[in-house]
Amino acid sequence: MRLKGKTALITGAGQGLGFAFAKRLAEDGADVVIADIAKAQESALKIKAMGVRSLGVTMDVSNEGDVERGVAEAIGLTGRIDILINNAAFFATMTHGPFENIGVVEWNRMMSVNVLGTYLTCREIVPRMRRQGTGGRIINMASGTALKGVPGALHYVASKGAIISLTRSLARELGKDNITVNAIAPGLTLSDGVIQRGGLDQERLEAQRRTRAIPRDEKPEDLVGAAAFLASDEAGFMTGQTLAVDGGSAML
Ligand SMILES: NC(=O)c1ccc[n+]([C@@H]2O[C@H](COP(=O)([O-])OP(=O)(O)OC[C@H]3O[C@@H](n4cnc5c(N)ncnc54)[C@H](O)[C@@H]3O)[C@@H](O)[C@H]2O)c1
Repeated sequence: MRLKGKTALITGAGQGLGFAFAKRLAEDGADVVIADIAKAQESALKIKAMGVRSLGVTMDVSNEGDVERGVAEAIGLTGRIDILINNAAFFATMTHGPFENIGVVEWNRMMSVNVLGTYLTCREIVPRMRRQGTGGRIINMASGTALKGVPGALHYVASKGAIISLTRSLARELGKDNITVNAIAPGLTLSDGVIQRGGLDQERLEAQRRTRAIPRDEKPEDLVGAAAFLASDEAGFMTGQTLAVDGGSAML
């Protein structure tokens, strides 16, 4: 129960990796706010059934007003936020293909959700963490694609590269407040979004496995230990880092 007494807000936790993080943090004793454009309330009920406090907040991370309102609602759960996981992303339904075909509308949507969204939640929550006076933990979801330079989704990869840089700079700004900022870079993971998107034939999965030192598929459960560690007191002197959790595909 190393997170007992802590409150976490996880964006994009209605399903997928975010929901897996919510379950793991709840197992570790944290109270959890699920912030998502979809399934926030129903997923919060599942977390509540685990015996911790939980609240679903419907909010679009790319909308300034939504984030201000959503975070204000979230504070109602316990009066504090100690852990922020920026996990929401435009990802599963994005266009794949040559960079010329992306278009300005989809490019801007990618940057709005993945990069601006992360900025907005940090801007809303960090002042509260500072006022609490007990430090904080920010965990941003990056991607192995940004470490390896994967082709066919330039807007997504660029957005995740921005997350790695943002993580480093924000860590430098917030260290004096005892707020750590780290990132997790997963490989292709069989999350709800990836499964719902379909098109995952054995050939593509085998190609992924071949890039890994541990040659098997990656599951959401493979990532939750890293998130729980980064959220804990034990990670208190670690900041600005990007942890690749991908079976040893990218090696930093
Ligand atoms: N699954 C992978 O292969 C993989 C690999 C590397 C990185 N990631 C990253 O992990 C994170 C989670 O991915 P996932 O696979 O669980 O995806 P997913 O599609 O299963 O879940 C994403 C969640 O984010 C929510 N969301 C989308 N736009 C939002 C918005 N504007 N505001 C609030 N919520 C929003 C969705 O409703 C959904 O619940 C993402 O940041 C993704 O880029 C995933």
